[in-house]
Formats: sequence, C-alpha cells, structure tokens
Amino acid sequence: MLMQWSKALEIGHPIIDYDHQMLVNIANDLHHAVHANLGDQMIAQSLQRLVQYIETHFAREEELFSKTRYPHVEKHKQNHRDIEKLVHGFLTAFEADPNAVDMNKLLGFMKEWLIKHIGKLDKSYASYVIKSEKSSTLGQRRGFA
Ligand SMILES: [Fe+2]
Ligand SMILES: [Fe+2]
Repeated sequence: MLMQWSKALEIGHPIIDYDHQMLVNIANDLHHAVHANLGDQMIAQSLQRLVQYIETHFAREEELFSKTRYPHVEKHKQNHRDIEKLVHGFLTAFEADPNAVDMNKLLGFMKEWLIKHIGKLDKSYASYVIKSEKSSTLGQRRGFA
C-alpha cells in the first residue's frame, strides 16, 4: 500500500472528501499493480484512471470555487495545472515505452503531493466554501436567491 487514508486528510466537505479518498484508493491500486507485477497493461489502466480522476476532481473543485466565489484561486489552479501536466507526461511516456518510466518516482511524488495539497491547499478553502454553500442554500430556502 502506498498510503492510508487518514482523518488528517479530511477537509469537511463530503463530496470533496469522497474524491480525495478515491484518489488515495486509485494511487494505491497503481502501487499494487506496479509492485505485484500485474503487467504493463494493468499499470497503464490504473495510471489512466488516476489521470482521469485527477482531472474530474480538479474540475469539481474549481467549479466549487466559482460557485462560491472563492477568491484565492490563482495559486491553487496553477498547482492543479502543474499536476495535470506531470501525470499526463508520465502516462504518455509509459504508453510509449513502459521501461523508460520510473513508476516509483511517480508514486512517491503522488503520495507527497496528496498529503501536501489536500492537507494544506485544499484545507485552506474548506471553511470558506462550506460556509458560503450553507448560506446560499439557506437563502434559496427563504426565497432570496
Ligand atoms: Fe485542489
Ligand atoms: Fe482536492
């Protein structure tokens, strides 16, 4: 196992927490495919799933930012773009030549990034987004929205 989900990674937003758990699960699947020697095809499939889920998750997070008008998006979005580029690069390289790619390097990076990005950057938007979602549903119920 690459890493275990822990309470310390929870940000308190159920949909986002679910996404993050999925990312940890898929990263663990990839780790398993690599270390149990399940073959290049399985590794490629796991890596594709990871790349796809990362993109889905970033889109969901960024939609939440615009919906709630979260102001500190620039650095966060840039980090998302950097990660997308990096994992895409790994996928393209792996598909071209599996032997040319050091999967352990990607896995080590993923683990560090997940802990840092979720634990710091994602946590920093949580209270704002949760609060503003609550007040907008309240407003809707009262007919103000
Ligand atoms: Fe994020
Ligand atoms: Fe996130």
